[in-house]
Amino acid sequence: MGRLVHFLSLLFFLLFVVSSAASSGNQSICGPLPPIVPIPIFLSDVDLLQFALNLEHTECEFFLFGALGHGLDAVAPDLAMGGPPPIGAKKANLDNVTRKIIEEFGYQEVGHLRAIKSTVGGIPRPQLDLSAKNFAKIMDDAFGYHLNPPFDPYNNTINYLLASYVIPYMGLVAYVGANPNLNGFVSKRLLGGLLAVEAAQDAIIRAKLYDRMHQNVPPYRITVAEFTDQISNLRNKLAKCGVKDEGLLVPQQLGAEGKITTNIISADKNSLGYERIPAEVLRVVYGSGDEPITCVQH
Ligand SMILES: *[C@@H]1O[C@H](CO)[C@@H](O)[C@H](O)[C@H]1NC(C)=O
Ligand SMILES: *[C@@H]1O[C@H](CO)[C@@H](O)[C@H](O)[C@H]1NC(C)=O
Ligand SMILES: *[C@@H]1O[C@H](CO)[C@@H](O)[C@H](O)[C@H]1NC(C)=O
Repeated sequence: MGRLVHFLSLLFFLLFVVSSAASSGNQSICGPLPPIVPIPIFLSDVDLLQFALNLEHTECEFFLFGALGHGLDAVAPDLAMGGPPPIGAKKANLDNVTRKIIEEFGYQEVGHLRAIKSTVGGIPRPQLDLSAKNFAKIMDDAFGYHLNPPFDPYNNTINYLLASYVIPYMGLVAYVGANPNLNGFVSKRLLGGLLAVEAAQDAIIRAKLYDRMHQNVPPYRITVAEFTDQISNLRNKLAKCGVKDEGLLVPQQLGAEGKITTNIISADKNSLGYERIPAEVLRVVYGSGDEPITCVQH
C-alpha cells in the first residue's frame, strides 16, 4: 500500500512537470530533475575522479596506437598536459573490423580525459610502459612460466584483444568502487557516463573473445578461455581481495545465478559489477603488492 502511494505521488509529480512544460509550449523535458543536494562537486570527489585518469590515459594510448600507430600527442596533445609519451606502444596487426572498433574506443578515451580534466582538473599523463615486453611479462606472471615465443600484444587481433581484455574492465570496477564515495551531482553524472562506456567496451572485447573461446592462441597450445582465466586469476591474486575478476569459463558457482559455466560478463553473485578501491587497482596495475592491503566488500 505504502508503495502504491509512493508510486502514485511520483506519477502525479511527473504529470505536473509534463503539464507545466506543455503549458509553456515545450513538451520535452530534458536533463535530470534538480538534485536534492545542490553541490556539483565535493572536494573529496576530485581525487577519486583524478585517480581514474591513470586508467583512462592507459586505455587512450593503447587503443589509439593499436588502431592508428599514433597516440594522444597526435590527436589531442593538450590533454597530455606535458606528461611523457608512452614507451613501446605501436600499431597492432588488426583485422579491419576490430581496428575500427579500437579506433573508436581510442577516441572515446580522449573524450573521457577531456571530460574528467575539464570537470575536476587533471594530472599530466603518467609514464606508461606499453611495450610488448611488458605485456609478455604480465602473461608470464599469469601462467607462472615463460611463454615461448614471448606473448606479443601487437602481433594479431586475438593477442590484442587478450591484452585489452582487462583494460576497460579495470576502469569499470574502479568506477563502481568510487561510486559510494562520490557526492556531488556533477561528479556522479560524470562517473555514470564513464562507467557506461567502459562497461560497453569491456563487453565488446569479451564478446569478441567469447566467440573464439575454444580456439588456440597461435603459436601456443592454450585456448582463448584459458588465457582469460589465467589473467583474471592473476589480477585476483595481486589485488588480494577475493574474486572480482572472472574469465570466460568459470566454476558453476561463479556463473550467473550459479547455473552456468560460460561467463561472457564478469559480475558478482547478483550479477552486479564488482568494485575495486584505488588501493586494489594500484596493486593490480603495478603488480607489486606494495600497496597497503585494504579491500572494499559491501
Ligand atoms: C525545451 O526546454 C528544455 C529545457 O527545459 C530545452 O533544453 C530544450 O532545448 C527545449 N526544446 C525545444 C524544442 O525548445
Ligand atoms: C582492410 O582495409 C584495407 C585498407 O583500407 C584494404 O586494403 C583491405 O582490402 C581491407 N581488407 C579486408 C579483408 O576487407
Ligand atoms: C603472430 O600471429 C600469427 C598469425 O596469427 C601467428 O601465426 C604467429 O604464431 C604469431 N606469433 C606470435 C609470437 O604471437
